Amino acid sequence: MTLPGSPFLAYRGKELFLDDCSLDELASRHGTPLYVYSQAAMLDALAPYQRGFAGREHLICYATKANSNLAVLQTFARAGCGFDIVSGGELERVLAAGAAADKVVFSGVGKTRAEMQRALEAGVLCFNVESEAELEVLSQVAVAHGRTARISLRVNPDVDANTHPYISTGLKGNKFGIAHDRALETYRRAAALPGLEVAGIDCHIGSQITAHGPYLDALDRVLDLVEAIEAAGIPLHHLDLGGGLGIRYTDEQPPSADTLIGHLLRRIDERGHGHRPVMMEPGRSLVGNAGVLLTEALYLKPGAAKNFCVVDAAMNDLMRPAMYQAYMRIEPCRLRDEPASTYDVVGPVCESGDWLGRDRELAVRAGDRLAVLSAGAYSMSMASNYNTRGRAAEIMVAGGQAHLVRERENPAELFRGERLID
Ligand code: LLP
Repeated sequence: MTLPGSPFLAYRGKELFLDDCSLDELASRHGTPLYVYSQAAMLDALAPYQRGFAGREHLICYATKANSNLAVLQTFARAGCGFDIVSGGELERVLAAGAAADKVVFSGVGKTRAEMQRALEAGVLCFNVESEAELEVLSQVAVAHGRTARISLRVNPDVDANTHPYISTGLKGNKFGIAHDRALETYRRAAALPGLEVAGIDCHIGSQITAHGPYLDALDRVLDLVEAIEAAGIPLHHLDLGGGLGIRYTDEQPPSADTLIGHLLRRIDERGHGHRPVMMEPGRSLVGNAGVLLTEALYLKPGAAKNFCVVDAAMNDLMRPAMYQAYMRIEPCRLRDEPASTYDVVGPVCESGDWLGRDRELAVRAGDRLAVLSAGAYSMSMASNYNTRGRAAEIMVAGGQAHLVRERENPAELFRGERLID
């Protein structure tokens, strides 16, 4: 049986496998909570992006924040990707993983002067600038260090991506980007400031988008701006269309990346912009369904209103359910021939919001391992140490082998930088 979302995750008999690895065995060997990723699944998710752009000048910049483990970044760097980063920390990570700085775009509403300086020294491809104030500061930093910063303005197209309000970014009320009606003025300012070179235009309207309509609406708005900006005598080079393509957590039916890119390139051509290099910044769609979080059932706690299955993974390991009420499938690593009961799957953290799944039908006993599916994106990368819980270990299955790509954090590491006072 293959599970929806990934052809790489399937039951063989009663046992759940990712690629050729039994997840129950990995949990026995490495302990839980444990993240496990399939490199083949990541490359398989990248392939439709590459197919969609075949024959076009393009750059796929993996959005580092989705999963920033070095081995994940290395996988995409070796496959020819660039990276979208949003902090100095992410810059250091992508460089440590072997990325070429001239394939890195630097996004984010709050870049510090120090981050700008470091990115200029490293030689990033482009800064995606999100405000007029940031533009002024970037110009100052570039001049002070004798560098030129290539920039795009991230414009806010005021398009509804029809996604969760916390991950919708292209509406007027969002903090992101430069308002559509301020864009031309801001490009004029950018062209006049020293230390800056106008390179392109950028937008990103949200995440977990499951239709191509909002992308085309945003693209039209961006191309309107490109035409107005060039008419004002400011040449633009590339179009960066952001990330945001959704994945299947349950029954969503997002378009495939090649279908989406086909629609976008057709519109770009129809409107006479076919000569422009195109960039995208996908995160979730490259890694989301390439990973699972394994956890052990500690206690079954039947109750009058609810049955609880208390597991050893918690909201600090996987924040998405608590933060967005996100639905992520939970499946046993070994199927039992027993009737299922309905459980809320909850963690040990002292918060009622600490749940991984609600009202799930599971045939489970204490000691069994469960897999939370679609946990390759925004899962480990959003983990915290709340309740002084060390972060999980991570495994990458690659070339038929399971590699430990991050060790489990131990308690001493968690307070290493702290001091007692006299
Ligand atoms: N580019 C920019 C500028 C972004 O802000 C993002 C994501 C991406 C690219 C990648 O978007 P993706 O292809 O992954 O949708 N933590 C949330 C998702 C937050 C997304 C933030 N921005 C979640 O767990 O659903």
